[in-house]
Amino acid sequence: MYRSLASLQRDNRRCRLCLEAGHPLGSRPVVEGHSGQRAYLLGQAPGVVEGAELRPWRGRAGQTLRRWLRLDEEAFYATFYCAAVTRCYPGRAPSGRGDRTPTPREQELCAFWREQELRLLQPQLIVTVGGLALRRLLGIGSLTEAIGKSYVLGGAIVVPLPHPSGASGWLNDPANRARLGKALTHVRRELARLVEVLVVRPEGPADDAAVIQVVRRAMRPQEALLVERLREEGAVAYSLVAEESDAVVGHALFTVAAVGTEKALALGPLAVAPEHQSRGIGTALVRAGLARARADGWRLVIVLGDPAYYQRFGFAPAHAMGIESPFEHSGDAFQALVLSGDRPPPHGKVTYAHAFTEIEGNDER
Ligand SMILES: CC(C)(COP(=O)(O)OP(=O)(O)OC[C@H]1O[C@@H](n2cnc3c(N)ncnc32)[C@H](O)[C@@H]1OP(=O)(O)O)[C@@H](O)C(=O)NCCC(=O)NCCS
Ligand code: SF4
Repeated sequence: MYRSLASLQRDNRRCRLCLEAGHPLGSRPVVEGHSGQRAYLLGQAPGVVEGAELRPWRGRAGQTLRRWLRLDEEAFYATFYCAAVTRCYPGRAPSGRGDRTPTPREQELCAFWREQELRLLQPQLIVTVGGLALRRLLGIGSLTEAIGKSYVLGGAIVVPLPHPSGASGWLNDPANRARLGKALTHVRRELARLVEVLVVRPEGPADDAAVIQVVRRAMRPQEALLVERLREEGAVAYSLVAEESDAVVGHALFTVAAVGTEKALALGPLAVAPEHQSRGIGTALVRAGLARARADGWRLVIVLGDPAYYQRFGFAPAHAMGIESPFEHSGDAFQALVLSGDRPPPHGKVTYAHAFTEIEGNDER
């Protein structure tokens, strides 16, 4: 029984159950998604491209699926936790036509990962893709019967879709294409309901007090004071708020630091109101900040915090990259993320904005 999605995914990536049971596999497990995602996509199994890249929905079928859903790549992966009935590329079918369908035993073995994910994630929307996923999740054996309808499973709405590879020929029938159109309308309507809920946007003048309140409640008064000082100092590059039902529920600050002779971004403080924690709000704030930083051409972001949290964004111990913390004993908690690999990232000693060192007892750098 897992208590966190991160540890579940770590073990899933190492899973070799099918190989040990004598089934040939063409790749390691493909696992992608993060906590807080409220939409769950259940496909059949990765294909050869996905197995090679260890990322789901990379090939032609993925492109078709995104076109159906009217989502670009970034929105697709941000929206859906991508799962499959079996998570390793099964290899070519012995007949030579297409990929091998995972055997019932493999499907059984892999069901464990799905059950644990669904328990931890509690998605509000589940989209099954293809006949096998439909059969495994809802026990329905006919696409024609299910496509265009919605089902309820636990607390989630389930909307079945056919497989976008088109291999079955099911979509050649105009009546089935109409069923698909109806199903896609259901998915888009459900997605619109999900995204309405949380908005991540730059902090505005009216958010001042609400931000301080969130930081104070999530952390300690020192960190709230730190945010005020950083604002006064003019060190803020991005200040993002997460808003739900017109209330600020989370805040992320990115300030300007120096690494050696170059500028870099420092992430922190990051705070989510206690009653809203572990719902993906912190993740949404960090991802939004990193996307802005990338778009604005920043090359490096540093953070001091729990590696168990920040590694999901790609942060890794900074000392291994020749980036030196100004604070003693920061160890692996001092992390960095390279955003652009066009030239070697900056290295050397880090200098933070003054407020970080001025405020006594502050743990956030
Ligand atoms: C840390 C914080 C910003 C994370 O935001 P959040 O919205 O609660 O987190 P998310 O929903 O995005 O992510 C939840 C995951 O983070 C993990 N997590 C939450 N706080 C964590 C922490 N301090 N250290 C390590 N992991 C943490 C949860 O266990 C969960 O793991 P899972 O994905 O494996 O299930 C928020 O919990 C918070 O404000 N905490 C108090 C302030 C704080 O400690 N800030 C410093 C951050 S180092
Ligand atoms: S298909 Fe699933 S159960 Fe089988 S080895 Fe891969 S991850 Fe493990």
